[in-house]
Amino acid sequence: MSLTDSIPNNVDLGSDRKLLRALEKWQPNFLEWWKDMGPEGFQEDQIWLRTATSVDASGWAHYDYVRMPEYRWGIFLTPRAGERTVGFGDNAKYKAWEEVPGELRGILRRIIVTQADTEPASVEQQRLLGKIAPSLYDLRNLFQVNVEEGRHLWAMVHLLHQYFGRDGREEAEALLERRSGDQDKPRILSTFNEPTDEWLSFFCFTMFTDRDGKYQLSSLSESGFDPLARATQFMLTEEAFHLFVGETGLDRIVRRAAEATVKDPNGDARNQGAIDLPTIQKWINFWFSSAVELFGGEISSNAADYFATGVKGRHHEQKKYEEHSGLQGIYGMTLVKDGRLTQEDVPLRNAMNEVLRDEYVDDCERACARWNKTIREHGITDFELRIPSRRFNRRMGIYADHRFDPKGDLISDAAFERGCATWLPTQEDRDYVRSVMVPCYEPGQFAPWIAPPSKGVKGKPVDFEYVKFTAR
Ligand SMILES: [Fe+2]
Ligand SMILES: [Fe+2]
Repeated sequence: MSLTDSIPNNVDLGSDRKLLRALEKWQPNFLEWWKDMGPEGFQEDQIWLRTATSVDASGWAHYDYVRMPEYRWGIFLTPRAGERTVGFGDNAKYKAWEEVPGELRGILRRIIVTQADTEPASVEQQRLLGKIAPSLYDLRNLFQVNVEEGRHLWAMVHLLHQYFGRDGREEAEALLERRSGDQDKPRILSTFNEPTDEWLSFFCFTMFTDRDGKYQLSSLSESGFDPLARATQFMLTEEAFHLFVGETGLDRIVRRAAEATVKDPNGDARNQGAIDLPTIQKWINFWFSSAVELFGGEISSNAADYFATGVKGRHHEQKKYEEHSGLQGIYGMTLVKDGRLTQEDVPLRNAMNEVLRDEYVDDCERACARWNKTIREHGITDFELRIPSRRFNRRMGIYADHRFDPKGDLISDAAFERGCATWLPTQEDRDYVRSVMVPCYEPGQFAPWIAPPSKGVKGKPVDFEYVKFTAR
């Protein structure tokens, strides 16, 4: 472990002068990008942040006040636990790769660049949110997520620099040149070009979009390319907090909505300055349907190749499955045929994206059940939140050419158009949500549309001064 180096790391950077020099050359460009595209207006303030300092499960992070540009972004890989083999596919039982096999170079580069691109993209999407934060607790959590997405970019750039030569260095530069939402140089995946300019969207993003990230990282942590497996494994420990922010953030908004609904004489949460439950449902519909696209095509020869070559496994491939060739299974896929929904068997390898999407949908349903518990606790029995069908509102994949309602039933184009105003955010909804987003920077105070959390961060009280403003 080396924390005194210019780049904190546990990969013995000091002994690889060439790599160290390349990364030290990239570092000022990263910092310039951070100052340009990172959180706007808070770069001089003291934020109480967690910094990864080791990969020790018992204490891998250090908490203290830090100015964001001085955050110590480091490179950490989960240590090897003995000799690994490729755990699945046609190469199963070969020794895991320490270098990129020539024939897998293209595939691995594409996977790493696509993952890497999402990290700075989300920072860019969220860069204005600090100005309308509902509390210091939430402001700090936003910045925690942002700096860690920055570290995830470092994790992927390290792999590009170390294992992909000149191509890798060029990709690392390009990662700092694309911009979320830019017409000419957009980020690679469309969800990462959606504006996230209010906090209901931020919590939906960390709930739904980051959760796609969890499942992608998890399947890459099974990879036969060992450095990728170890890098993504450590990223998952940080990612868990991002998902916590999203899931509990939505729960707190739901709690406030339920309180306000019960309190208001007309049962209208908006009259109380809260966000009403039907509006929250629309945001869930929008962000969930956007995030499920990230898993890729339902029937996919790419997914089959990734699995066959041993590059990308299933979620918990080693822990959960006995059969690792993926050749014997079939997957019952729901398809549209002759205007009706039918089931058809697909070879398992070609359905790997769908297998991963299943895990994701189950996880979202679990969180949704928790929000519904919060609603019921307030005595509301006539409203439940729902995770929409994965077929609803799709732009890619086998469902994109058809229209479905949120339950997943086939409907006509006209019925979809009619339903949109009740299913998805309207301009009026967006204006309302935007209108309640006023900053609340007093320690322990919360904006009226969100309930306080049940506890603070890392043993600190909820009213702790998580952000010290020094520049205003
Ligand atoms: Fe990330
Ligand atoms: Fe994340």
